[in-house]
Amino acid sequence: MNTSATTASANHTPLVDTALFPEGGDGEVRAAHRLYEHLVGIWAPGVVEAAQDLGAFAALTEGPATAAQLSERLGTDLRATRVLLDGLHAYDVLGRARGEDGQPVYSLPPEMHGVFAPGGLYSLAGKITHDRNVAWDAWRNLAENVRSGARTSGGAQQLNQISEEDYTALVRGINFWAPPITQVLAEGLRAHGWTSGADRRMIDVGCGTGIYSQLLLNEFPELRARGLDVERIVPIAQEQAKRLGVADRFRTEICDFWNDDWGNDSSLALFVNIFHLQTPESAHELLLKTSKSLAEDGVIAIADHIVDEDEDGSTQNKFSRLFAASMLATGGGDAFTVQDYDQWLADAGLRRIALLDAPMHRVLLAGHA
Ligand SMILES: C[S@@+](CC[C@H](N)C(=O)[O-])C[C@H]1O[C@@H](n2cnc3c(N)ncnc32)[C@H](O)[C@@H]1O
Repeated sequence: MNTSATTASANHTPLVDTALFPEGGDGEVRAAHRLYEHLVGIWAPGVVEAAQDLGAFAALTEGPATAAQLSERLGTDLRATRVLLDGLHAYDVLGRARGEDGQPVYSLPPEMHGVFAPGGLYSLAGKITHDRNVAWDAWRNLAENVRSGARTSGGAQQLNQISEEDYTALVRGINFWAPPITQVLAEGLRAHGWTSGADRRMIDVGCGTGIYSQLLLNEFPELRARGLDVERIVPIAQEQAKRLGVADRFRTEICDFWNDDWGNDSSLALFVNIFHLQTPESAHELLLKTSKSLAEDGVIAIADHIVDEDEDGSTQNKFSRLFAASMLATGGGDAFTVQDYDQWLADAGLRRIALLDAPMHRVLLAGHA
């Protein structure tokens, strides 16, 4: 079997070949093609999530297969299975090669195996579960939320709060963001004078699985971390700390970060993907509380979808602004600007030290003014 001929590509190929437009063609027709390509964006989660639901990725983890072999294994219709597999190949998720009998053979590239495995450290399985439970219906209501501002009955802007059950799936499904962000954060801390981490203690507020602290503990072998989160989530963080070999320096605390005390001697207070859940008022409040929890030379690190109004063409801004729309669809939260953060920091007696780019995020470091 020739599996090398058309393996899944590492590069995303566009769905519309714009080179085929005639020179000087109708601008409206081009615009319609461009917009149509956005509108059919819904196809991508459609085919990926269907394949995950059916167990197709799990089956392909065991080796390449034809549509007939997969349909028998999954109990699905043969023709429809082929349609689904070809769709996944079109999105570069599956490889597709001709087998000896001329039938296509589909393969899941090795680097994708962990991406769909429920227990994989960087698996998207939890993100898929979350999207099926929350996001599909939420996007349908975006117009209504724009009309109403997604406010409470009293007129206040809302925090983005999904249920603890939904967070249980989602926090495992966003681990993959952590390695490059943690690298950027570690470099930023080193530039700020952090060496071994000796005598340094950090808190990871709303830690989720605790992946950022856990990877940072590997960067700074003498650092110690406390992961703060709700009762349902902290066992996930504790278990993962063991898996990553840092359980001796990572402990969890069941904590409501609004109402419980965080201590007052943190060398680092870390917030990853926490500020985009806030309203301007609650973000401001969170920074006032953080200021009190920091040691004299302590650092606040915020890794989030932060818009920089001075960098308008940046990929981070584009992603952040769409992320803000997804927050609005699911009920509240925002992607705040650097300028917003600077104002809240100043009000809390803090100042920005650095703003660093990371994939889909920016990392903002701040300390006492
Ligand atoms: C979007 S997740 C981010 C998790 C983690 N920081 C990450 O980026 O992978 C938000 C986390 O904040 C936690 N959280 C939300 N409100 C909280 C509160 N009031 N007290 C403690 N944790 C909270 C959630 O349980 C969830 O684990």
